Amino acid sequence: SAAEKGGYDYFMLKEIAEQPKAVADTLLGRIGTDGRLTLDELRISDADLRQVDKVVIVACGTAFHAGMIAKYAIEHWTRIPCEVEVASEFRYRDPIMGPGTLVIAISQSGETMDTLMALRHAREQGAKVLAICNTNGSTIPRESDAVLYTHAGPEVAVASTKAFLTQLVACYLVALYLGQVRGTKWGDEILAVIKELGDAPTLIEQVLETMEPVRELARGLADARSVLFLGRHVGFPVALEGALKLKELAYMHAEGFAAGELKHGPIALIEEGLPVAVVVPTHRGCTVLHDKIVSNIQEIRARGARTIVIAEEGDEAVVPYADHLIRTPATPTLLQPLVSTVPLQVFACELATAKGHEVDQPRNLAKSVTVE
Ligand code: G6P
Repeated sequence: SAAEKGGYDYFMLKEIAEQPKAVADTLLGRIGTDGRLTLDELRISDADLRQVDKVVIVACGTAFHAGMIAKYAIEHWTRIPCEVEVASEFRYRDPIMGPGTLVIAISQSGETMDTLMALRHAREQGAKVLAICNTNGSTIPRESDAVLYTHAGPEVAVASTKAFLTQLVACYLVALYLGQVRGTKWGDEILAVIKELGDAPTLIEQVLETMEPVRELARGLADARSVLFLGRHVGFPVALEGALKLKELAYMHAEGFAAGELKHGPIALIEEGLPVAVVVPTHRGCTVLHDKIVSNIQEIRARGARTIVIAEEGDEAVVPYADHLIRTPATPTLLQPLVSTVPLQVFACELATAKGHEVDQPRNLAKSVTVE
């Protein structure tokens, strides 16, 4: 009903708008007054967390993209090797696990069969399993050793939005907590990032307030045959997520690529007028990464691409090559997906609406896939 949708036309619009609060709720009570994390709810002891020698993340769909981003954060902040794999592939390839392996199963619903089967397999091999889940008491957290709940609230639209951002937050919390208990050399950075994480709801709110040009752009692209998404570093999974949203909602051909792979194939797809969205890493951190993506934007534009550039405020280097420029507020590099994903959600939702599609219930898709 209209009341359930809180005045929005679709649950998806409501859920996109709820993201600042959802992220704030996921952070609530988890950052102490001393600026350190307290994850008392984690039933795995700090002593056990210090013994972890490998992290393996399993998930499906949008949750898998959150896992891909988590890998960058976990390896950087903790120096523990981290693998990430779609749950449906994981258990069939005889993966190597032991008592020092921490498996993280990410699932909004807690009922995805492939993810459940992967975690059962992991536990049989002696690994500890931590669930990151949005649904209290669902099967995946019940069968795990520990759970960190995302507090996104019920997500009704099939295409995941607020669950994704809160999964990211939960992954960052786990990564930072592992770093905190293990005392890595990034101690100061970890404290600074915990503080910046606290600012995320405000930053997401700022992004939401500037989305009208994105909606206008999306309406103008309703007849495009295909859209490509490029990114580097944590922007790569964001590009995959942008493409997934467009497939799910607009039934359009969309692909996400690591920008560094352009010359190994995707650049052959570039033709006059092809819309290409590029997620640009911060220009303040690793300038090498930033410079490389700027030259990628130049390359595709020279071949006729219509460039849609998602870049941080103050990044002037991209301006000459952006046919459309979408600004996001400054964040630490690893936290950037919290702001750069939002315009891509809005873009896909608006484009699908312009095509006359029912965005909450896309054809052929289910909110939760409970068969293998
Ligand atoms: C389905 C949904 C996606 C979701 C995926 C994983 O494909 O349509 O939105 O990302 O399942 O679901 P889960 O509940 O495990 O996060």
